[in-house]
Amino acid sequence: MDSRSARGPITVDVSITEVCNARCVFCHCWQSEGGGEFTIETWKRFCSELSKEFVVKYVCFGGGEPYRRDGFLEFVRAVHENEMASIIVTNGIAMTERRAAETRDSGNFILNFSLDGFEETHDEMRGFKGCFEQVLRGIDNVRKVSPDHHIALSTMINERNAPEIAAFTRWALDKLAIDCINFQAYQQVTRYEGIKWYENDPLWPKMNETLDRALSELAEIADADKRIFNPPRQFADFRRYFAEPLSDLELVCKAGHTGFALNSKGDVFMCAVEAPVGNIQRAGVSEIFYGEGAGAHRVKSVDCSENCHFLINCYYDKESGRHASYEDRFRELMQSRTVKLSG
Ligand SMILES: C[S@@+](CC[C@H](N)C(=O)[O-])C[C@H]1O[C@@H](n2cnc3c(N)ncnc32)[C@H](O)[C@@H]1O
Ligand code: SF4
Ligand code: SF4
Repeated sequence: MDSRSARGPITVDVSITEVCNARCVFCHCWQSEGGGEFTIETWKRFCSELSKEFVVKYVCFGGGEPYRRDGFLEFVRAVHENEMASIIVTNGIAMTERRAAETRDSGNFILNFSLDGFEETHDEMRGFKGCFEQVLRGIDNVRKVSPDHHIALSTMINERNAPEIAAFTRWALDKLAIDCINFQAYQQVTRYEGIKWYENDPLWPKMNETLDRALSELAEIADADKRIFNPPRQFADFRRYFAEPLSDLELVCKAGHTGFALNSKGDVFMCAVEAPVGNIQRAGVSEIFYGEGAGAHRVKSVDCSENCHFLINCYYDKESGRHASYEDRFRELMQSRTVKLSG
């Protein structure tokens, strides 16, 4: 397989800053001091290249906490000016009406609030009291100023929230003004510590009756309610992954094929565990994507089954889900808006 055989990226994930204002027990970002971030000029050039040279449909902003980046919404605006859709993943802290209105005006397409359980659980995991309340207020503020905004929840499954996650999901679907929930399995997201990272991690969920029931209930909810973004069978894969984290789940890795990731310094990652293959401050996106390093990672990904965050969560089997694939969902969502697709 040569590096050109990739059909080109559809998604780009960007950690727009590594700094954060929460204190999550499962994440290291809040210990970062930041610095060395690429500029808005670099970002504009990158977006223009992405849009002209590929069929990228959406750019997902995470971090760190994206709203902590100075001028963050200008980065979002550049995505829309280049006819791509943006997803913002936020901890929801300080989503005032004003910030919600500015987010609407940036052209943002999906605003994704992280919420991992009921109040006590969420606040304990986010490291301070009041985070849950702020998320709920933030959702209300967005609805107030932008009634049609697509609002999502991002919810991870771990040892702490497993006992309540099904009840929490039903409550959220019933009470919150949200359009969808995207579940993620507990993973190593912001720091790579090897394949046995989960050993001795207190949030790694033990495969027992409670977790088994929770995953069955989530699959049932997903079967009945299209607002669950994950295809129902993903919960069966989560079960196999939690039971045997090193087992072969027979998933095909799409990293470096349909998506890639950037950190705040502009380093480009095709694979979750390998070194960067280039930097957008020093090279064009095609040059990086079709370069030797990226090609080598694509070759590796063909039969890699490391069960990393990219494989289990980010790029999970997007094309062969039993229900509408992620791509179809995005197409539907985008057609319901005035966002013009680039391909
Ligand atoms: C790294 S955060 C960045 C965006 C923002 N600060 C937030 O928390 O929403 C992106 C997403 O990854 C999730 N996440 C962080 N650490 C995780 C972990 N160890 N396993 C699974 N998901 C995780 C967060 O809850 C959030 O939904
Ligand atoms: S998960 Fe998000 S909110 Fe929590 S520390 Fe990491 S970047 Fe911050
Ligand atoms: S599955 Fe393998 S090749 Fe794909 S991103 Fe994960 S570690 Fe990299």
